[in-house]
Amino acid sequence: MTAFTVSWNIVSKHLRRRPPPVVALLLQVAAIPPALAIALVLHSQHYAVTLVSLAFLCGLIAALLSHLFGLAKWWIPIQLLFLPALAWTLSLDLSPTWFLIAFLILLAVYWSTFRTQVPLYLSSEKVWRALVDLLPPATPGKPITFMDLGSGLGGVLAHLSSARPDGRYFGVEVAPLPFFWGWLRLLRKHNCEVRWGSLWDCDLSQYDVVFAYLSPVPMEQLWLKAQKEMRPGSTFISSTFDVPDQRPQQTIQIDDMHRSTLLIWHL
Ligand SMILES: C[S@@+](CC[C@H](N)C(=O)[O-])C[C@H]1O[C@@H](n2cnc3c(N)ncnc32)[C@H](O)[C@@H]1O
Repeated sequence: MTAFTVSWNIVSKHLRRRPPPVVALLLQVAAIPPALAIALVLHSQHYAVTLVSLAFLCGLIAALLSHLFGLAKWWIPIQLLFLPALAWTLSLDLSPTWFLIAFLILLAVYWSTFRTQVPLYLSSEKVWRALVDLLPPATPGKPITFMDLGSGLGGVLAHLSSARPDGRYFGVEVAPLPFFWGWLRLLRKHNCEVRWGSLWDCDLSQYDVVFAYLSPVPMEQLWLKAQKEMRPGSTFISSTFDVPDQRPQQTIQIDDMHRSTLLIWHL
């Protein structure tokens, strides 16, 4: 093994332990010296190197490094276009206030996605309808209880509460703007309650059905929590993201745009 391979493996191992946005940023920085070196060579050969072409060169190298260091494939176009987009935006000479406003809006929508790696995207109406069929039958005097972990804009809860008014529907959402949107949407629904907070602070023993549409990242830890807290006879449903090494007892393929699958475990 050469010294280069050894150093590459060490760097690669260290990078893989860090959150992907940090790795992406480090690779952007790492792309600058080789891009500058290439630009200097081109300049010495009398080629005109503009700021935009330099930004593209950095983007190209950052995209290549991202591929080599195993970032998910959707990072590649982001890495490629990040610096050119930055150079283009700066050329518009906008007031810094616009950048602050855009940053605050994105922060309110995505909040801790940087850490949780669970962004906001919404499940389809077809998923909502399939969930109605998965609710347990009504029992007189005992309303069913349903929890949407990461309730987003409250669409799941709003639909279930209209379709099965005999139930009680709860949600927890960590990002402030989606939480506020969901809270407003559900304000007039007497059988819905959405809370601003982390799903990790929820006691899952309260619910007959727990639903999660998150990302692959938290599924293993969430499964351990569900197993520890959920009552026998209750149901855990994950949309699209499976639990490593845990075969669901039932799966339902949804014919929607995302090709969602509902994975169902009866505890
Ligand atoms: C993919 S969206 C699903 C939204 C909604 N459940 C639906 O099906 O349309 C996931 C949501 O979980 C939220 N989220 C991520 N981590 C969370 C956490 N630890 N606690 C609460 N919410 C979280 C995100 O902010 C995002 O709104």
